[in-house]
Amino acid sequence: MPVGTHPNVTLTLSDGLRVRIRPVTRADRDLLAKGFHSLSEASRNQRFFTPIAQLSGSQLTYLTDIDHIDHFAWGIETEEGIGVGVARYVRTGPDIAEAAFTLADDFQGRGLGWTMLRALALVAADHDLERFEMTMLADNAAMTRLARKAGARFEAPSDGTIRAELDLDPAIWSDLTQATALRDLAAEAVGAADRRGTAALSD
Ligand SMILES: CC(C)(COP(=O)(O)OP(=O)(O)OC[C@H]1O[C@@H](n2cnc3c(N)ncnc32)[C@H](O)[C@@H]1OP(=O)(O)O)[C@@H](O)C(=O)NCCC(=O)NCCS
Repeated sequence: MPVGTHPNVTLTLSDGLRVRIRPVTRADRDLLAKGFHSLSEASRNQRFFTPIAQLSGSQLTYLTDIDHIDHFAWGIETEEGIGVGVARYVRTGPDIAEAAFTLADDFQGRGLGWTMLRALALVAADHDLERFEMTMLADNAAMTRLARKAGARFEAPSDGTIRAELDLDPAIWSDLTQATALRDLAAEAVGAADRRGTAALSD
């Protein structure tokens, strides 16, 4: 998919890595399927708690055909248009959402998770969410550290997982560069989803 057709924001990480970030759309099914397929078994397991090899058609629809209010996802790509990550929230209550993050193996441990978490929290707060809940396998050191860095509280049910709850305090995204541009992109995605809904009703 030609990435240049989507409005996006470029972020530069501390190691000089430049990536594009933009809301996931219905056009991203193939990109998501390929990205998932290229993940190591360990990463797939850490994200989905099961070593499935590929996403089904209905899973791809669920993950890409989203309203950008109760279900929002940022997609991260290289400047060459290769998908490298997704940060997603799904509202589970009036003021709380489940948040989850996935990065391609080569892009883990370079600060991108922290950038994605802040960008996701920013959009969630704009949609009246006050908390994220995040569930991770108990041995997921990177995700545990990421959640702790953001200020999450932890519970460990005795099923091999850890549940983290994070208050969406503006301090989390206060030093995020391009926050205004990210907010604008997220708002445009809501408008596009609304227009699709209206067009479908008038068909
Ligand atoms: C979990 C994940 C999103 C974290 O993103 P990331 O870009 O790798 O993490 P970052 O580089 O932003 O690092 C965040 C913190 O974790 C630490 N960290 C990163 N990788 C680590 C590792 N393997 N072990 C221990 N700590 C680690 C970093 O040092 C940093 O803490 P610090 O700033 O206090 O030093 C990413 O590793 C990933 O996609 N993993 C596979 C899927 C997954 O586990 N998803 C989570 C399910 S909710």
